[in-house]
Amino acid sequence: DWTMDSLIEQTVKEIKAKVGKHKAVCALSGGVDSSVAAVLVDRAIHDQLVCIFVDTGLLRKNEGDMVIETFRKNYDMNIIRVDARDRFLSRLKGVTDPEEKRKIIGNVFIEVFKEEALKIGDVKFLVQGTLYPDVIESGNGVSSTIKSHHNVGGLPEDIGFELIEPLRMLFKDEVRQVGKELGIPEEILYRQPFPGPGLAVRILGEVTEEKLEILRQADSIVLREMKKFGWYNKVWQSFAILPGIKSVGVMGDERTYAYAIILRVVDSYDGMTADWAKLPYEILESISTSITNEVPGVNRVLYDITSKPPATIEWE
Ligand code: XMP
Repeated sequence: DWTMDSLIEQTVKEIKAKVGKHKAVCALSGGVDSSVAAVLVDRAIHDQLVCIFVDTGLLRKNEGDMVIETFRKNYDMNIIRVDARDRFLSRLKGVTDPEEKRKIIGNVFIEVFKEEALKIGDVKFLVQGTLYPDVIESGNGVSSTIKSHHNVGGLPEDIGFELIEPLRMLFKDEVRQVGKELGIPEEILYRQPFPGPGLAVRILGEVTEEKLEILRQADSIVLREMKKFGWYNKVWQSFAILPGIKSVGVMGDERTYAYAIILRVVDSYDGMTADWAKLPYEILESISTSITNEVPGVNRVLYDITSKPPATIEWE
């Protein structure tokens, strides 16, 4: 596509001129925006860019491997994978308040990221996947912060690096077009949004390793079934919540007392408002049966039939 080609070419030129002989880092999450931004900047300054992937332990099943492998297979980029799982988990120990959890995760993320960037040395720039809607929202002062979405657009600006924001003039669909043009695989370009604080805000109250494991398994079944029935790309988001409620059930001759999982699937245009998705019963049934059969410690599945407003998409 001609316009996309020249847009990419122009942006590459600008980045080269701006960075000169210095180094840049980016926080690669595997989300659409950070992925496109990273590949675009890599095209401009290759050796001078280092991407940092932080494994927070709050990611989905196999997510770290998937992201790293996808990039290794398709590109020759400098990617560092940092295992910070213990660090996040220990700092979250005993913390139950949703905003407190977000704050801690944001802070630990910045600490870890900064440490890695300092190890590289001589880093002057930070690549951010900020989009046009983020730019207007943060600029006009009317953005209401019902939740602290501090890491929607990435790291805060006061981290001490100059920003490179190659997507700041683009809307989401244009970012996907650029990504396609750059050869980024569909499994990255068409991923559903996933919050920065990850599974931590889908476990109500304290985050523990046990709960993370249960949620990771339930969540991967939700995604698998949504894909199997061809519904993954028909909805805005589809995921599991672990509310921490235990209820009585029965399995064979045994009485069980185990966790419930809440299924949350919504249709939305931009995440600001959302409708609960009218999923066919056969999908609901398949998800429920699979989760209760395959995830030890879960004996009940519930479907959230609340739209936004009055609810939010996430539970925390
Ligand atoms: P809510 O729950 O506010 O979510 O209706 C709207 C959209 O934002 C995502 N979300 C977040 N994304 N950090 C993020 O990067 C966060 O703390 C956060 N909280 C919610 C949510 O997944 C949905 O797409």
